[in-house]
Amino acid sequence: MLGIIGGSGLTQLANLDVSHREVVRTPYGEPSGPLTFGRIGCRDVAFIARHGHGHTIPPHLVNYRANMHALESSGATAVVSVASVGGIRSDMAPGVLVVPHQIVDYTWGREMTFQSGGDGPVVHVDFTDPYDEEVRRRLLDVARRIGEAVVDGAVYATTQGPRLETAAEINRLQGDGADIVGMTGMPEAGLARELELPYAALCVVANWAAGRADSAHGIRFDSLEAVLQLSMVRIRRIIEGFCAD
Ligand code: HPA
Repeated sequence: MLGIIGGSGLTQLANLDVSHREVVRTPYGEPSGPLTFGRIGCRDVAFIARHGHGHTIPPHLVNYRANMHALESSGATAVVSVASVGGIRSDMAPGVLVVPHQIVDYTWGREMTFQSGGDGPVVHVDFTDPYDEEVRRRLLDVARRIGEAVVDGAVYATTQGPRLETAAEINRLQGDGADIVGMTGMPEAGLARELELPYAALCVVANWAAGRADSAHGIRFDSLEAVLQLSMVRIRRIIEGFCAD
């Protein structure tokens, strides 16, 4: 079964043939909402909206542990995360789809591990390559096959939010090697790795990051919704293709 975590702009999957919804209990508390189970093509899917159904949970308050645990305990064997990001690199314009290959984590104060101490030996999971290469490759291959342009590789800086960054912070992130910036990439990817769940992200650039291009004097929110809506149609097509494989 494929787990799909939907971000801003993707609170439901129109192409999901729903069988049932379930509130999944976890040792880590409540997930962001009920999981929606069903099929896309010939693949069983479990979907969860990261920010809740009405988009009410800000990035720093998402219960990432509960979401990931709920997907795993429900039988997900791989997870695709959909996330909107800001574009830092000059080719990361609004509307670009990208499958990142690396992460820099600037978040703090989030519950970011399943290890609580005292319940077994300490485990240091390998996180050299934070995304699963097979899931990444499949997303990219499907996109190519159906004619959707998707950029292969980007360094995803995960900031704490919920506020957006300053222009100087974006300059610093770029100096650190970041190409895109979002608020939910971590601890999600790290938790998936702890559970040994193959995980990759399909990101849509929603806006230029602070201080860049038309965000030189403030983030332009007016076009953001339109960009997300158009991009989600493309993302649904890629997910459909992914499930048809
Ligand atoms: N910064 C951080 N997170 C984001 C942005 C951004 O500019 N756009 C969408 N998510």
